[in-house]
Amino acid sequence: MGMLTVISWLVSTVLVAAVDLQSSGDSYTPRSCNSPIYCDGPLLKTVQLAQLYPDSKTFVDMPTKNPEDQVMQAFNALGQNPSVDAIQSFVNANFLDAGYELEPFNFTVEPLTWLDRVDDIIYREWLEDVHEFWTELAFNFNTAKLCDGCVSSTLPVKNPFIVPGGRFREFYYWDSFFVIQGLLLGDIDDMARNMIENFLDFVDTYGFMPNGARIYYLNRSQPPFLTQMVKLYFEKTNDVDFLKKALPVLDKEYVFWLDNTTVTIRKNGERYRLNHYNVHNESPRPESYVDDYNTVVNGTHFSLLEQVSLFSDLATGAETGWDYSSRWSKIKDYSPDLLRTLDTRSIVPVELNALLWSMETTLADWHDTYGTEDRRKTKRQGEYYRKQASQRLHAMDVLLWDEAQASFFDFNLTSVEKNSEYTPANLFPFWLGAVPERVLRSKPTLEKVFDLTYDTLAKYPGILTTSTHNTTQQWDFPNGWPPLQYVALQAMFNVDEWLGDTKFAPLAQVLAERNVATTFCSWYSTGGSLPGVLNQLPNTTDSGHIFEKFDVLSLDSAGSGGEYTVQVGFGWTNGVIIWMFDMFTNLTAPNCNSTTTYPLPPL
Ligand SMILES: *[C@@H]1O[C@H](CO)[C@@H](O)[C@H](O)[C@H]1NC(C)=O
Ligand SMILES: *[C@@H]1O[C@H](CO)[C@@H](O)[C@H](O)[C@H]1NC(C)=O
Ligand SMILES: *[C@@H]1O[C@H](CO)[C@@H](O)[C@H](O)[C@H]1NC(C)=O
Ligand SMILES: *[C@@H]1O[C@H](CO)[C@@H](O)[C@H](O)[C@H]1NC(C)=O
Ligand SMILES: *[C@@H]1O[C@H](CO)[C@@H](O)[C@H](O)[C@H]1NC(C)=O
Ligand SMILES: *[C@@H]1O[C@H](CO)[C@@H](O)[C@H](O)[C@H]1NC(C)=O
Ligand SMILES: *[C@@H]1O[C@H](CO)[C@@H](O)[C@H](O)[C@H]1NC(C)=O
Ligand SMILES: *[C@@H]1O[C@H](CO)[C@@H](O)[C@H](O)[C@H]1NC(C)=O
Ligand SMILES: *[C@@H]1O[C@H](CO)[C@@H](O)[C@H](O)[C@H]1NC(C)=O
Repeated sequence: MGMLTVISWLVSTVLVAAVDLQSSGDSYTPRSCNSPIYCDGPLLKTVQLAQLYPDSKTFVDMPTKNPEDQVMQAFNALGQNPSVDAIQSFVNANFLDAGYELEPFNFTVEPLTWLDRVDDIIYREWLEDVHEFWTELAFNFNTAKLCDGCVSSTLPVKNPFIVPGGRFREFYYWDSFFVIQGLLLGDIDDMARNMIENFLDFVDTYGFMPNGARIYYLNRSQPPFLTQMVKLYFEKTNDVDFLKKALPVLDKEYVFWLDNTTVTIRKNGERYRLNHYNVHNESPRPESYVDDYNTVVNGTHFSLLEQVSLFSDLATGAETGWDYSSRWSKIKDYSPDLLRTLDTRSIVPVELNALLWSMETTLADWHDTYGTEDRRKTKRQGEYYRKQASQRLHAMDVLLWDEAQASFFDFNLTSVEKNSEYTPANLFPFWLGAVPERVLRSKPTLEKVFDLTYDTLAKYPGILTTSTHNTTQQWDFPNGWPPLQYVALQAMFNVDEWLGDTKFAPLAQVLAERNVATTFCSWYSTGGSLPGVLNQLPNTTDSGHIFEKFDVLSLDSAGSGGEYTVQVGFGWTNGVIIWMFDMFTNLTAPNCNSTTTYPLPPL
């Protein structure tokens, strides 16, 4: 095909398919945040800048005590420049506690059926506890508790759900994939299905999957994991009816990513299409109001246009799920100005394109097998997704793949070059299979795929670091995050399978040992105990915390930095732990003293 043909083919398939997919569901009308209390406007600004609470998220999670119009009237009656005391009295008189409408969802779980496979007695008992933690993280929204005309920032849902924990009092998009993985391994299939149904309802209602279940998350999404969730559920249950119901909704989500986040890249006379995260926003994120205000407005000299651009890059950074990271900033090392140089929309991230490729190939297969009764339409949809996948893989190969380093890298739209930063996000294609045939068939290349990962793991005693830059941002060194360990391990399993070998099994074993030990030891050092098996440390007062992230410089501490204090709970950490015990049955609980190390095997 000549280049012109390629372009017109691309344009026509995109248009044909968009029309085709849209006509299969409701009309496509993404909705955004528009409440005068929880989204934007003088009330939000006045209350948030008064800093009544240490975390801006507290106020926007408080439902009103009075009908919305009365609240607005009471606010207007405060006049210009009210004192902090007057603002506090206004909030006390008109708002309920944050999370008031959240109701624990009471359920019990059966013991894990495969618990006996875990050899180590301490780990076995601890795993049972982790499995039972789901019962403490399950909630419903009960807005019926509120008065007539009262409002809250929660988005209505039909089913109960699991929250991450801590300040995260609602469910989140990409977190939930790892939660669902843990639920399914624990045979809590109903809850997994409940959660997926809530997501499908959201896509149906809002035209895309918001970042989380709050109105202030309606301006952005998060890494597209919904197809992966449906896949996990379907692989476990074989529920064809469920899949058939989900399929048109997944089509709809795909249209959102295509319409809102596609970029065209011209390089060496060719045009390619890939995706970046892309949120337009003109105001501070309501749940991080003070932070964003201080980043963008307070003490800066940005023009209005520059402010809008930075508000957009901040919201886009939150859409990536990596809020925040040197991946998205021009300054790559510690600086109080780092966030002011956010450049998120200039980056074409590896994992987003790997996830979309997986969506394309998976939806192609599902349309072929489980599409509508109209065979011609079904065939057309299958072919459409396959073409989308193959042009994406070609673009990833040309633009993101580095043959010498046997790695994918993010691509920068401004420099029109890939960068050379190692992060575990580079491994997503090896988890999801978004790897060119040529690479799949090359033993020498596949054998080099984890060289950078190995070097990084060799430097520190803990889990895989998020980046190599110490910026004090959450998604940078020295923090390591459980979902990224999951991706790295899945990638190792796949590459071994493609090699027909067990080359990376020992490395995978050590990474799993480190991840489980880190989670276990930080739980133990914050007071965790197991009756009859493990006594509580004498100097502790809490009863053990499961953290959202970890410090890669040790085997027993929670990570730090970023926008909020480290969270305990924690949904995705639990899910990943349960999965690791399922994959590796002979992990051994350490003493959690400084002598415990997990040296890497030779490669
Ligand atoms: C959400 O988007 C709307 C429409 O673009 C905009 O007016 C509003 O300021 C945005 N709100 C937030 C919280 O990002
Ligand atoms: C704005 O910046 C000043 C100076 O750094 C600081 O004292 C003030 O607290 C900031 N305002 C807010 C709302 O954080
Ligand atoms: C759930 O259990 C709690 C504590 O036992 C109880 O207070 C609450 O009423 C129960 N909720 C429902 C919906 O049954
Ligand atoms: C997606 O793009 C449409 C059209 O530009 C826009 O109206 C909508 O707000 C965008 N949605 C999100 C969540 O950014
Ligand atoms: C993208 O490339 C431009 C031009 O080289 C550079 O100034 C910018 O810092 C890069 N962005 C990121 C996030 O690395
Ligand atoms: C990271 O940088 C911060 C700020 O400069 C510093 O306090 C901290 O010790 C550094 N951490 C590591 C692990 O080097
Ligand atoms: C308790 O003591 C142990 C060693 O004696 C120490 O490693 C740990 O950090 C202490 N924990 C707390 C919460 O102070
Ligand atoms: C655990 O099992 C793996 C393979 O299943 C094996 O390679 C490893 O040596 C075992 N480790 C221990 C401590 O038994
Ligand atoms: C630390 O743990 C090792 C075994 O993992 C044990 O041999 C050693 O005695 C422990 N050291 C201390 C100080 O508790």
